Amino acid sequence: MSEEQHLAAIIDGHITTQLIASAVRFGVPDLLKDGPVSTQRLSRATGIAPRELTRFLRALQGLGVVEKAAPDGYRAGPLARHLQRDAGGLYGQALLAGGDYYEAWAHLDYSLRTGESAFEHHHGGSLWGRFAESAEVAAAFTRTMRTNTERAVDEIFGLYAFPACGLVADLGAGDGTLVAGLVSRFPELRAIVFEQASVIEHTRRSLEKRQLGDRCEYVPGSLLDEVPRGADLYILKSVIHNWDDESALRILENCRTAMDGRGTLLLIERAMGEDNPREAAIRDMVMLVLFGSMDRTAREYEELLERAGFMVARTVISSSGLSLLEARPAT
Ligand SMILES: C[S@@+](CC[C@H](N)C(=O)[O-])C[C@H]1O[C@@H](n2cnc3c(N)ncnc32)[C@H](O)[C@@H]1O
Repeated sequence: MSEEQHLAAIIDGHITTQLIASAVRFGVPDLLKDGPVSTQRLSRATGIAPRELTRFLRALQGLGVVEKAAPDGYRAGPLARHLQRDAGGLYGQALLAGGDYYEAWAHLDYSLRTGESAFEHHHGGSLWGRFAESAEVAAAFTRTMRTNTERAVDEIFGLYAFPACGLVADLGAGDGTLVAGLVSRFPELRAIVFEQASVIEHTRRSLEKRQLGDRCEYVPGSLLDEVPRGADLYILKSVIHNWDDESALRILENCRTAMDGRGTLLLIERAMGEDNPREAAIRDMVMLVLFGSMDRTAREYEELLERAGFMVARTVISSSGLSLLEARPAT
């Protein structure tokens, strides 16, 4: 591929984003789950006009989502299984990338000029607020996050010696993947799971499905208002990078208030370094567009913690950039 062809393919990213999002919206990967289906049946099931369906499937074939099956049908292509509703995070990622995120990214210039969230500028509210309006957006996001956290969980346990007993509070716990890892490893450990009211039932169901539901207490609320008291270890994983300095400080100060001079706060983030891989630089742009926030360096996270009245006891950074900052209330 020439340089120009390579660049053209990058520029045309919007086309593949929408082709895949449409495939998911119309349920094509799920319809092909059990074997080849005729185009006539696919047309009836999706409501896509026969001629346009043939054209659409031809394009999806080029992307590896479907394959032609004789005599007049299609079967799942090698990538289809990742896009089925129950498969994992990519189903939701495809929906968001072709929907709410897509519209927000059209306003990247706004974020670049102002440092503020294009998502909020376009949608008139935050992504977190959208969760209360659309269960589908909430489910899509939390499932994507689950996949990300599942990939990181072993690395996290390799970097930090978690307490084997006591009470841990996971703040902004998402679908509960980290809590699940903790309470299943340490039978004496109990957990407070703190999440937005629009997400907490999802978190509860997710932990119940893993047979760990009764090891946790579920507390709905906003980190910007108040954090539950009484835990020995507070965890904020992939939370602070979603907030600008002012809100991040407010959240950290709420943690310090809840801790009342005792316990440990563990901040887990993918910190920016000197040489950042492409994904890290792009994730930082995602923070800007979606939240008007940023991925910080480990030093910047330390400074935030200190400004919020914490003393940083230890910062551990893995070779992949995963950073764990252990902090205690300074007074
Ligand atoms: C990037 S996700 C991280 C989820 C989880 N900690 C993980 O790493 O898998 C951020 C989480 O913060 C939650 N959140 C956002 N705003 C919140 C608020 N004001 N109060 C409590 N949780 C909030 C979201 O619902 C979301 O699940």
